[in-house]
Amino acid sequence: MPTFIKLIDEQDIASRVQELGQEIGRHYGEEPLIAVCVLKGAFLFFSDLVRALPQNMDVRLDFVRLASYGDRTHGAEKVEFKKDMETNIEGKHVLVVEDIVDTGRSMDYFLKVLALRRPKSVKVCALIDKSERREVELQVDFRGFALDKGFVVGYGLDYAEKYRGMRSIYDLIPDGDGRSG
Ligand code: IMP
Ligand code: MG
Repeated sequence: MPTFIKLIDEQDIASRVQELGQEIGRHYGEEPLIAVCVLKGAFLFFSDLVRALPQNMDVRLDFVRLASYGDRTHGAEKVEFKKDMETNIEGKHVLVVEDIVDTGRSMDYFLKVLALRRPKSVKVCALIDKSERREVELQVDFRGFALDKGFVVGYGLDYAEKYRGMRSIYDLIPDGDGRSG
């Protein structure tokens, strides 16, 4: 078994998500919004976040699934859609909801694709903004928590598809002699 070190307690996640919901609500006001969940990792965060938005907010939901291939360390990575959105975003405000922005490559790719569809605006909301391995300049507009390093699981986040259902967020220390990403 790997070791789990609790980093963010479920209560702290819940209260931060409430704050984010209000912040986002204040930002968009009465403007219609399309909120896009990046699957799979953001699914729990997204479901809590949309319920934390002001109840009278004009928000539609959509889902996207990205997949990345290749060897990151050699810059050969390729990002693709496994599932695209279904909503026409032309002239609309779009909020992308992601679990973690790490190197920033997947989000960078997605934002470039979205820009071609001519939305009115695009902003990024990430539960965790992990800065240590950032490779592309990318602004997280609404950020749940900042983390400089580590590999975290729980609250939707996985390691090899495991641990998504854990209620708090944990630093995962693999078996053997140390940490790995
Ligand atoms: P990026 O393209 O490097 O920013 O990749 C971000 C994606 O990698 C996230 O959406 C996660 O799905 C995954 N990821 C990055 N760091 C972690 C982590 O610490 N735990 C779980 N998944 C992670
Ligand atoms: Mg992800």
